[in-house]
Amino acid sequence: MERIFGRPIVTQEEMRARIKELGRQITADYGEKDLLLVGILKGAYAFYADLARAIRIPLRVDFLVVSSYGSKAKTSGKVKVVTDLTEDVAGRDVLLVEDIVDSGLTVQHLIKTLSKRKPKSIRVCALLSKPDRRKVDVEVQYVGFEIPNKYVVGYGLDYQQKYRNLPYLAVLDTVDDEGQGF
Ligand code: IMP
Ligand code: MG
Repeated sequence: MERIFGRPIVTQEEMRARIKELGRQITADYGEKDLLLVGILKGAYAFYADLARAIRIPLRVDFLVVSSYGSKAKTSGKVKVVTDLTEDVAGRDVLLVEDIVDSGLTVQHLIKTLSKRKPKSIRVCALLSKPDRRKVDVEVQYVGFEIPNKYVVGYGLDYQQKYRNLPYLAVLDTVDDEGQGF
């Protein structure tokens, strides 16, 4: 069991408390704005559902399905939009909701792509950030937790498409950078 689920790094209680805080901060910052909350799937699904309900303004919801890592733990560096938004971005205040910012390539690519559609503003809220892994300089305005350079699963994050339903965040210490080790 321990080998599969790893060591807990962020508990459910810690997650709940931090997301409440993020919700309060976003509510204060966005006030009367026309907020379009864009979830980046699949990874952000659990965080997104909790965050959206912690934000006390009548926002719009939308989603982007992207693929970056394939089934490996290591980044390919390529980001592909598999399913696009259904909402119009022009003139709206867009907040991208990500599970984790690692190299920063995914967020950088999405900001570049969506900026062409003339949003009024575009910002990023990530549950997790691994600053040591950054390859490109991206601004992430809201971060839940900064974590060390370890492969994590749970709360939406996967290892080979599994463990997303784990209700807390765990370190998979049997997985190396290439996704090997099981
Ligand atoms: P980036 O483009 O390198 O910033 O990677 C972002 C994506 O990589 C995230 O949306 C995750 O899907 C995936 N990712 C990065 N680190 C981890 C991890 O530790 N566990 C699970 N997925 C990860
Ligand atoms: Mg992802």
